[in-house]
Amino acid sequence: MQTQSIGYMDAPVPKGIDLKAEINKLRKEKNAVILAHYYQTGDIQDIADFVGDSLALAQWAARTEADIIVMCGVHFMGETAKILCPDKKVLVPDLNAGCSLADSCPAGEFEKFVKAHPGHTVISYVNTTAAVKAVTDIVVTSTNARQIVESLPKDAKIIFGPDRNLGNYINSITGREMLLWNGACHVHEQFSLEKIVELKKQYPDAEVITHPECKKPVVEVSDFVGSTAALLKHAVKSDKQRFIVATESGVIHEMRKQCPGKEFIPAPPQDSTCACNECNFMRLNTMEKLYNCLKFELPEIFVDEAIQQKAIRPIQRMLDISAQLGL
Ligand code: 13P
Ligand code: SF4
Repeated sequence: MQTQSIGYMDAPVPKGIDLKAEINKLRKEKNAVILAHYYQTGDIQDIADFVGDSLALAQWAARTEADIIVMCGVHFMGETAKILCPDKKVLVPDLNAGCSLADSCPAGEFEKFVKAHPGHTVISYVNTTAAVKAVTDIVVTSTNARQIVESLPKDAKIIFGPDRNLGNYINSITGREMLLWNGACHVHEQFSLEKIVELKKQYPDAEVITHPECKKPVVEVSDFVGSTAALLKHAVKSDKQRFIVATESGVIHEMRKQCPGKEFIPAPPQDSTCACNECNFMRLNTMEKLYNCLKFELPEIFVDEAIQQKAIRPIQRMLDISAQLGL
């Protein structure tokens, strides 16, 4: 992550201002678009021009005509937008919003791993740095990973990184034997199997719906497994009235909006008394920082040009395959 003077991120917001009105004014004046991931707080999701999962945010960034993209998410999401739109200004409200999964895959080590296994197609989850994407053949997200892996010949040798849980899950549903990088997301690995089983006893009519970044035992007790957007779609479609949700609890905001009559119970993490599981990186973004970010047009995401030119190819390949598949 690049260093910038980031004192302005916490610059005091003038007392008594109407944050929503000011953000609306600034985005109009500056022709800025606000994109937000489902793991943002409800107020940020509500003010965003578009809310989506990692795939949808990349698709939206690729087609926007705005001059400024404000990515309310984490650093790799801003980087992906910048790689796709090198001539636009891409901002994130808090430059410290990293990702434990992206951090679990240092580019130099991943490149050595790739070189040690020649003849493999390299598939990387979008939760990676630009430098990892630069040594990747196809980027995937949790929404399209299965279909993209299945689009390759049955005997293709594949490296899949960095999420070992998503990789294991894709191996199990496709019958492939992809070589996996040993990385993980600290939020999704934290769900407690025991507490989910306990909740299921308490609410036997509830469906357990789970993100594939979770560990295998949690995936195995689930009724439905899918990306953030797939979980949301499933909740809308299902005739069940109650759901135990094993992913970052921010998505429950949109689930409640789209399914007003249904009940959503966040699955609890292991080592905590908290009832729900939040990503501390995602939650660094606040309405105040979003306001400062639009006002000062900082902090900005930069990607080295040589890396950008290599990293855009696997991202574009993902977008092209997704468009062909209607995703
Ligand atoms: P999706 O947005 O693809 O569901 O990924 C979840 C995630 O952990 C994003 O950081
Ligand atoms: Fe990264 Fe996990 Fe947070 Fe997503 S939820 S941004 S994968 S740490």
